[in-house]
Amino acid sequence: MIIFTLFPEKRLLMNLNRETRRRRTFGIISHPDAGKTTLTEKLLLFGGAIQVAGAVKSNKIKKSAVSDFMEIERQRGISVATSVMGFEYGGYKVNILDTPGHQDFAEDTYRTLTAVDSVIIVIDAAKGVETQTRKLMEVCRMRKTPVIVFINKMDRPALDPFELLDNLEKELQISVCPLSWPIGSGGGFKGVFNMHEQKLDLFLPSANQPEQQDIEVSDILSGEADSYIGSGASTLKDDLELALAGYPQFDRERYLGAGLAPVFFGSALNNFGVRALLDCFLEIAPSPGTTKAVEREVHAGEDKFTGFVFKIHANMDPNHRDRLAFVKICSGMFERNKPYLHIRTGKKQKFSSPTGFMAERKSVIDVAYPGDIIGLHDTGNFRIGDTLTEGEVLNFKGIPSFSPEFFRYVENGDPLKFKQLAKGLDHLMDEGVAQLFVNQVNGRKIIGTVGPLQFDVIEFRLKHEYGATCRYEPLNIHKACWMESSSREQLDDFRMRKQQNMAKDKRGRDVFLADSEYSLQMAREKYDAIRFHTISEY
Ligand code: G4P
Repeated sequence: MIIFTLFPEKRLLMNLNRETRRRRTFGIISHPDAGKTTLTEKLLLFGGAIQVAGAVKSNKIKKSAVSDFMEIERQRGISVATSVMGFEYGGYKVNILDTPGHQDFAEDTYRTLTAVDSVIIVIDAAKGVETQTRKLMEVCRMRKTPVIVFINKMDRPALDPFELLDNLEKELQISVCPLSWPIGSGGGFKGVFNMHEQKLDLFLPSANQPEQQDIEVSDILSGEADSYIGSGASTLKDDLELALAGYPQFDRERYLGAGLAPVFFGSALNNFGVRALLDCFLEIAPSPGTTKAVEREVHAGEDKFTGFVFKIHANMDPNHRDRLAFVKICSGMFERNKPYLHIRTGKKQKFSSPTGFMAERKSVIDVAYPGDIIGLHDTGNFRIGDTLTEGEVLNFKGIPSFSPEFFRYVENGDPLKFKQLAKGLDHLMDEGVAQLFVNQVNGRKIIGTVGPLQFDVIEFRLKHEYGATCRYEPLNIHKACWMESSSREQLDDFRMRKQQNMAKDKRGRDVFLADSEYSLQMAREKYDAIRFHTISEY
């Protein structure tokens, strides 16, 4: 008798490939209030990750909480608990990466988007694309991240579907293809026609929990479903004829190449259209693919482990200063207690209690696969963008650092606590709370943030976690620009003439702190060999 056995390495590789292929790691983005939290919660309910609605708390910081520090701390507590939500559904391992809703934390969201393989965008049907979504889409476009759109709140009066689709195309700068079509909206909302599966999903409002009825339809245009829809039937048929002629067919390659966005309509609050979205998403969304490193492209199916840090979260307990570094696994299998090379420091490190994220629980895991996010306890060694490998020297690219919008000088408020302030600032910058620049003429430290709220957060955290006191002084700066030049002469000349506005960032790179759009424009015109970037990489 011949017994066929596979070599253990081959078995491991097959297992790795299987695990990689079934992973769906994505982020949900929206403008605040469009329904991101509600949709996340419904997806978790489907996945059995939570049992009751209301378990996922909104991670919004309400406007009134601008100076409410307890609210900020509460927010940090919630966001660490829900920053990654993993669950099993239909044979897939789903990892939802949470993105902060408040625009002052947009930088955090940008970084999280570097760790996802695709994105679901939630739009409020009455409002269309709003500012925050537009900005986040820029990051998706830059990274060529595939996106699916969920138009939410159809149970409320909504804009016309064609108007909404036009708005998406224009504002998100992407072709769209509707995979479901709404029948009415608000009080007259009857449901959607699921163009992907050719069935009618009827919305049946009831006093307790609105219900959904699915009706298979072979040809919606023939009138076979009219009795279910009533007065909305002829509008639906006209709409569908126009839509089929006016929008491209779904094409998975175009979607995966970020050239086409499938669109669904529904109501997250009423759990309507969510299952159709989830089922289609799991079928078409990409599993982890390639990640670009400075040295080469890394494929998820490679057998050696690689990963990068995209987020660092400080412990809320001031007595335990350790932090949690969130690592996205790009390739290979991560194993507990195996030594990995931390590229920036050149040191090998073992992790005895790596954290995995399933549902709302964190637990120690032994292994993890590409697409998974793990949390590594850190005493201050990690920085956002750091790479871990089994030994190969690799530096993953593409963690963007955007020019801050607000700048202030930061000064020590207590001469006896100079060291504490330096350490606190150092740690907070590693976490990516804000960016620190040092003016090249006077050596003063400048903090740049995406929103004014961060200045309060920094002051509060310096005091409570590091026992340091800081003072801010106003500073009139419009943008920070990283520079690249094809002419050494021009760069030297620029540096000399603009020395008052020259600073170094945390990595020692030159940064031009332009005080107005006009001065930036002038600099661009005069120094044509220099390129001024408002986006950098960590
Ligand atoms: P966000 O995370 O994107 O900021 O939005 P969130 O889910 O918190 O939803 C914002 C508001 O919109 C919530 O109401 C939520 O209940 C409501 N909402 C979400 N989806 C739908 C929908 O499909 N239809 C309708 N009609 N409303 C929806 P709220 O009053 O601000 O908060 P809450 O008191 O209900 O929590």
